[in-house]
Amino acid sequence: MTTMDAKPGPRGAAQDVALDACGRPIDEAALDQIFFAARSYNGWLDKDVSDDCLRAIVDVMKMGPTSANCQPIRIRFLKSRDAKQRLKPHLMEGNVEKAMRAPVVALLAHDLAFYERLPRYFPHTDAKSWFEGNDELISATAFRNGTLQAAYFIIAARALGLDTGPMSGFDEEGVNKAFFAGTSWRINFICALGHGDEKSIFERSPRPEFAEIADIL
Ligand SMILES: Cc1cc2nc3c(=O)[nH]c(=O)nc-3n(C[C@H](O)[C@H](O)[C@H](O)COP(=O)(O)O)c2cc1C
Repeated sequence: MTTMDAKPGPRGAAQDVALDACGRPIDEAALDQIFFAARSYNGWLDKDVSDDCLRAIVDVMKMGPTSANCQPIRIRFLKSRDAKQRLKPHLMEGNVEKAMRAPVVALLAHDLAFYERLPRYFPHTDAKSWFEGNDELISATAFRNGTLQAAYFIIAARALGLDTGPMSGFDEEGVNKAFFAGTSWRINFICALGHGDEKSIFERSPRPEFAEIADIL
């Protein structure tokens, strides 16, 4: 989906206040493309996704914030039929077609050894020493920031003109064994990428009112 053909989203229903209440919003077509008209797709058009496009998504995603700039996400893009077939036995039945028919499936993982690179990514202090020997902090930090980066990944893909289909319905241990054996990478969730087929989605599910999920003290 591109900005040009983004369908108008349910903006009025989804928001309580005007979009300019914060000062300097991106234009409405961009907001539609990223949020209001963007959907989680179950089916895909027969359109290729180039390697350059995958590189562009990563280039945008990595600019989102992570604690101490720890950058724990690791991504394995499955594009070939063989690579996707290796994933197939680990998927929940309802996710098999959605994943196998997608042009690309991204395995969104995090690296439990992320802190080894902190001297490069956070050079002004010895952040590596905060983590060494502290497995609880390592796994909480990798999961928290890896999940954040996976969300930036979805937003980046949408912003650049792709559609996504995130999925957590799979056997985690099986995917870790099949793709990350002998490494410090651990799967978080997977995300199909491509150009979404409008016929594959249901009516938008309701979103909560402000007061149901937020308050202001
Ligand atoms: C982390 C995550 C895991 C998900 N897992 C699945 C899944 O296993 N199978 C599936 O069909 N949809 C899955 N979804 C899609 C959600 O059901 C969908 O994003 C939600 O209903 C909102 O739909 P919308 O984005 O079209 O508004 C997942 C979404 C996320 C973000």
